Amino acid sequence: MANRVVSSFRTLDDVDISGKTVVVRVDLNVPAKNGAVADATRIERTIPTLRELIEKGAKVVLLSHFGRPKGKVVPAMSLEPVAGTLQAMLGRPVTFVTTDWRDGRAAEAVRDTAPGTVLLMENTRFHPGEEMNDPELAAAFGRLGDVYVNDAFSAAHRAHASTEGIAHVLPAVAGRAMQAELEALVLVLQTPDRPVFALIGGKKISSKLDLLGNLVAKVQVLGIGGAMANTFLAAGGRPIGKSLAEREILDTARDVMRRANEAGCEVLLPVDAVVAAELSAGVETRTVPVEEVGPDDMILDIGPATVTLLEARLKAARTVVWNGPLGAFEIRPFDRGTVAVALAVAKLTDAGTIRAVAGGGDTVAALNHAGVAEHFSYVSAAGGAFLEWLEGRALPGVEALRA
Ligand code: 3PG
Ligand code: MG
Repeated sequence: MANRVVSSFRTLDDVDISGKTVVVRVDLNVPAKNGAVADATRIERTIPTLRELIEKGAKVVLLSHFGRPKGKVVPAMSLEPVAGTLQAMLGRPVTFVTTDWRDGRAAEAVRDTAPGTVLLMENTRFHPGEEMNDPELAAAFGRLGDVYVNDAFSAAHRAHASTEGIAHVLPAVAGRAMQAELEALVLVLQTPDRPVFALIGGKKISSKLDLLGNLVAKVQVLGIGGAMANTFLAAGGRPIGKSLAEREILDTARDVMRRANEAGCEVLLPVDAVVAAELSAGVETRTVPVEEVGPDDMILDIGPATVTLLEARLKAARTVVWNGPLGAFEIRPFDRGTVAVALAVAKLTDAGTIRAVAGGGDTVAALNHAGVAEHFSYVSAAGGAFLEWLEGRALPGVEALRA
């Protein structure tokens, strides 16, 4: 199955790299604190591609954005501090280049270096042409090398000069990290083993409406947790007290339920909840059936009966796709539901009965908190791109790599 997937995209296996200069779009938009990299996952993911290119005798020119400088030079959003981390992880010198890509001097700098050299260009978004997908900027990026490798799935939902435009200028292929993302994602929604169980949490239905609409038509079971579940509970006439919910879109929630019903997708809502007077550490909590949530209660996590229900359905699944925490997991003890279900998914994945893929923003943090991220079949490094993919949308950066 994996081969069929890969064959629809060009990869590093489809180009001759030796002696070439390869322009690689990476996503070095990593979380940073006080000028230091706080989570190097995205850097780590792209190392195999870079090693492979170096071993094959290529010169490597890296392009990435960092933050949202909106077309201006914002020194606090320079990629320079990231270059140090990349160099340490790669175990080879990384030369940071601040020269403007358009004036030809960057291309000159590239020409003057030896094979095996890695150059990192300054933040692509310092130039207004990046987000506008300006063909002139794409052409300037193209002049930096002979082949384009996109290894930044997490930026592939953006049609920018370095993610999309350049793919029409140079021969364009997927790097190994991009390839791994595509293989993992296609195997959960396009050609999955069924039944497929989608577990969706987080706060807002409104931000995930397209995603829910796409999923109910594709998966057999949809488990809903997080504050998002409160809106569905309220739409079904349940008391939710002072819980976080989008009370203005109850009809929308009912519409999702109706569409799920029509598509034969079973929707699992919480049957019990952990409630408290407020969201804070050390607050007094109660566990109640959802029918018994009081007027002053806030629902802050799924309860043990819901965990048991989800576990039972997970056992019958073959494929699991997960986005969003199931409770207010940042504050104990409201992490319990998410952790318990994450452990159950990890166990079933280890036992080989399911393939489990997770991704999108808080999800990875929640799985790391539960200590199970390595036990999932695949954890996407993407935030917004993962969500857009769950929405069933074509990602411009991926489309440009189609064979
Ligand atoms: C991300 O962090 O999700 C990607 O790097 C894309 O960043 P963006 O949302 O600023 O385009
Ligand atoms: Mg984003």
